[in-house]
Amino acid sequence: MIKQQLDRFNRLELLGGATALEKLERLSAWLGRDIYVKRDDTTPLAMGGNKLRKLEYLAADALAQGADTLVTAGAIQSNHVRQTAALAAKLGLDCVALLENPVGTEDPNYLGNGNRLLLELFNAKVELVENLDNADELLNALGDRLRSNGKKPYLVPIGGSNALGALGYVRAGLELAGQIEDSGIQFAAVLLASGSAGTHSGLALALSEVLPDLPVIGVTVSRTDEAQRPKVQGLAERTAELLDIAIPNSFKVTLWDEYFAPRYGEPNAGTLAAIKLLASQEGLLLDPVYTGKAMAGLLDGIGRQRFEAGPIIFLHTGGAPALFAYDSIF
Ligand SMILES: Cc1ncc(COP(=O)(O)O)c(C=O)c1O
Repeated sequence: MIKQQLDRFNRLELLGGATALEKLERLSAWLGRDIYVKRDDTTPLAMGGNKLRKLEYLAADALAQGADTLVTAGAIQSNHVRQTAALAAKLGLDCVALLENPVGTEDPNYLGNGNRLLLELFNAKVELVENLDNADELLNALGDRLRSNGKKPYLVPIGGSNALGALGYVRAGLELAGQIEDSGIQFAAVLLASGSAGTHSGLALALSEVLPDLPVIGVTVSRTDEAQRPKVQGLAERTAELLDIAIPNSFKVTLWDEYFAPRYGEPNAGTLAAIKLLASQEGLLLDPVYTGKAMAGLLDGIGRQRFEAGPIIFLHTGGAPALFAYDSIF
């Protein structure tokens, strides 16, 4: 049902196939617990990451509307803005991005290296803003300004997280369910970073229909459970509405909010330890803002016996280009 509904939407085929689901052999042996990773960090465009899945739907819509400019917003080190700008370049569109400095740092690598360096290469136009507390208003105003200059902007929300963008993770959920079924393994849970919520909402919606007993755990990267819950729930509802399906009874929002402190964009000791552990045990690169925090939650969750029995899947959503902006903390 969900698959047929999803197939009605226009999508640019940018992924070129499923991302791998692979076992982390050394980490599993070290932990005494099998850990698998779904490699969405390896999506094809411009150093990979989860946003390409959302952009398959959003950019298809932009082209259908005759847009000539992708407009979006995020942190100076946003992976979302990097992937949007790269796709604009690939499609021959302009890209304008509003950027904030959420950690108030003057570190030259934060301001100019990592994802921010790549925006220069993609020829994105950047406008720095004080903050993105009212991002939709700022994006609308920028859209109006571009239109009055004769441009045809298409507004991509922060993180690509509206219902159309979340379809990318509905599709990813169906893809992952197929891989889980092929493996014959009874997994304990899927765990991922939960930020602007499109990844979490779309994945949990799809899995609640096709694998209703599999828990989906979102580790928050910027908010308490109380603040994040309505975002994930609301976006899942809007996504189900867009798909014209009912939210399955088994749909559940599970959030772990103990791992994001001190705030968005600022790693803690657990984040750094998780990044170093995965790099040194597996040669796998996590990032300081999202996946490092999520993996810290996974490791702590094992220690505290927060999971049911069985192997765990970590959804690797990317972000490693930001490591070069955070070199001073390692
Ligand atoms: C590397 C990485 N992981 C996870 C996320 C969180 O995804 P979402 O914003 O859909 O919650 C992001 C979002 O920017 C990201 O860049």
